[in-house]
Amino acid sequence: SGTWAGCEVFENYVSILDNPPDDEDCCICCEKLTHASGYGEGKKDEKVVFKLNRCSHMFHKLCILAMYESTTKNGSVQCPTCKTIYGEKHGNCPDGVMEYLTVPHSLPGNEGHQTKVIIYHISPGIQGPEHPHPGKRFSCRGFPRVCYIPDNDKGRKVLKLLTVAWRRRLTFTIGQSSTTGESDTVTWNEIHHKTESGRNDSGHGYPDDKYLDNVLMELSVQGVTEADLSS
Ligand code: APR
Repeated sequence: SGTWAGCEVFENYVSILDNPPDDEDCCICCEKLTHASGYGEGKKDEKVVFKLNRCSHMFHKLCILAMYESTTKNGSVQCPTCKTIYGEKHGNCPDGVMEYLTVPHSLPGNEGHQTKVIIYHISPGIQGPEHPHPGKRFSCRGFPRVCYIPDNDKGRKVLKLLTVAWRRRLTFTIGQSSTTGESDTVTWNEIHHKTESGRNDSGHGYPDDKYLDNVLMELSVQGVTEADLSS
């Protein structure tokens, strides 16, 4: 219907507030909720107010729409006030293959457990519309990239969540590598992986007691949580 045209992504996450409180501001445009949106004065719907379902924060419809259009446009919406994520965030990782196997060796600090080895394969190609320079080539350094996780209960949970992140194209992105400085190349994307199995001089190896908890946190920031494993 007309109400949701152009903002279908919000349809399942918000309700329209008929009587917004007159003493609260929209934290996106800093105008009163009862006044017109700072991003759409004079436009149709300038005074429509959306309330997010779970966190109950309120914004002008035109403000939250402008925020979505100028940021990720990735099918999910993040509350600008409390960071609650609505919907599934998807990334722009190029096509490739993720595989894993179990090997009978222990990682330092994880004696008594075997190891899950993850191998990511991505090949160079041409950037799509979702990438920084559509039509231009991108390179891939260091592939296949090989990563290590202890094969214990928490590690197996992390592995499942990493496969969810991979399906949602969140594991890698295309941009500038901070290690090599090269642009238009495939880089890790906010979800840390351990690429060394034997030592931890670089911070990308073992032992590291906090690694599994840290990566669970990083996954949850991307909207990948245990709730994704039940369905
Ligand atoms: N192993 C795991 N993660 C790494 C590594 C590494 N060797 N080097 C950097 N990172 C992490 C960084 O801490 C940062 O959070 O990846 C993120 C992005 O850093 P970039 O240097 O931009 O990433 P990228 O170019 O993809 O990776 C550099 O990682 O797997 C290796 O072979 C790869 O040598 C390359 C290195």
